[in-house]
Amino acid sequence: MLPTTLLLSAFAALAATSPVVKRSAGPGCGAPSRAPVLPKTGGTSDLPNPDSGLALKHIALGFGIQNYTCKANATATATGALAMLYDITHLYPRQGAESLPLQEFNNLTSKALWTHKVPLNMNGNGPGASQTNPFPPDAPLQLQGQRPLPFLGHHYFDAAGVATFNLDSGKIHLPCSKISQVDAPKGADKGPEGTGAVGWLYLGGKDGAVGAKFVYRVLTAGGATHGCDKVSGTDSTSYTATYWFYG
Ligand SMILES: *[C@@H]1O[C@H](CO)[C@@H](O)[C@H](O)[C@H]1NC(C)=O
Ligand SMILES: *[C@@H]1O[C@H](CO)[C@@H](O)[C@H](O)[C@H]1NC(C)=O
Ligand SMILES: *[C@@H]1O[C@H](CO)[C@@H](O)[C@H](O)[C@H]1NC(C)=O
Repeated sequence: MLPTTLLLSAFAALAATSPVVKRSAGPGCGAPSRAPVLPKTGGTSDLPNPDSGLALKHIALGFGIQNYTCKANATATATGALAMLYDITHLYPRQGAESLPLQEFNNLTSKALWTHKVPLNMNGNGPGASQTNPFPPDAPLQLQGQRPLPFLGHHYFDAAGVATFNLDSGKIHLPCSKISQVDAPKGADKGPEGTGAVGWLYLGGKDGAVGAKFVYRVLTAGGATHGCDKVSGTDSTSYTATYWFYG
């Protein structure tokens, strides 16, 4: 299930990154804290590094749906996404008492997608989420054997079709557009619907961005289209991903 190459490269990246930014003051294991290292290797090519002057603001777990439209015999067109965002920054290795081993951190997307229902108000009949009220009340995500993941915000497409993130009580508002994309790794989690994992993305803020400038979507699970040979009209697939916000 877990992409071995990804894990290896993530471990290598962690090992190769030496700057010790702060000492853990919390009740953790006492290991020095390190700045989280963005996974960039989707497959054969890497996403670009974040600009060196920028700081990591949050790592979020996104959990929701990817939407498509299908015309007969055509390639599906991505039309948007809806997701709840949960803060997992503190779960990255060596951040504090709740930090996970890297392998477990990298597998949080799979764990959520396979063990928890999509945290959206789903459409009673037909695919996808409610047209009118897709987001449930703000609440943490409770995964098995884990302290609840704090609610952080929402990901949606605005009325003009712009991918938008709103988190941290509006302190970060990020309408954005795609800068680059790489395929998910070969071994990426295809999701419970078996469609495949959506690509890894690097998105840049547009006019109106507040509190962050860039966001990466990496460690994706599920979310690819069922395909226009199977679905016509609206298609919707559950997915999870980690989103890394820089500003
Ligand atoms: C889809 O392709 C098949 C095979 O080429 C063709 O028979 C069919 O008419 C096409 N359907 C539409 C809606 O274009
Ligand atoms: C990752 O999570 C999935 C789903 O919970 C689980 O089946 C799998 O064993 C986990 N893989 C690892 C390497 O922990
Ligand atoms: C996704 O599709 C569902 C219906 O399947 C719809 O309720 C929702 O508004 C759509 N969201 C986006 C962002 O396209």
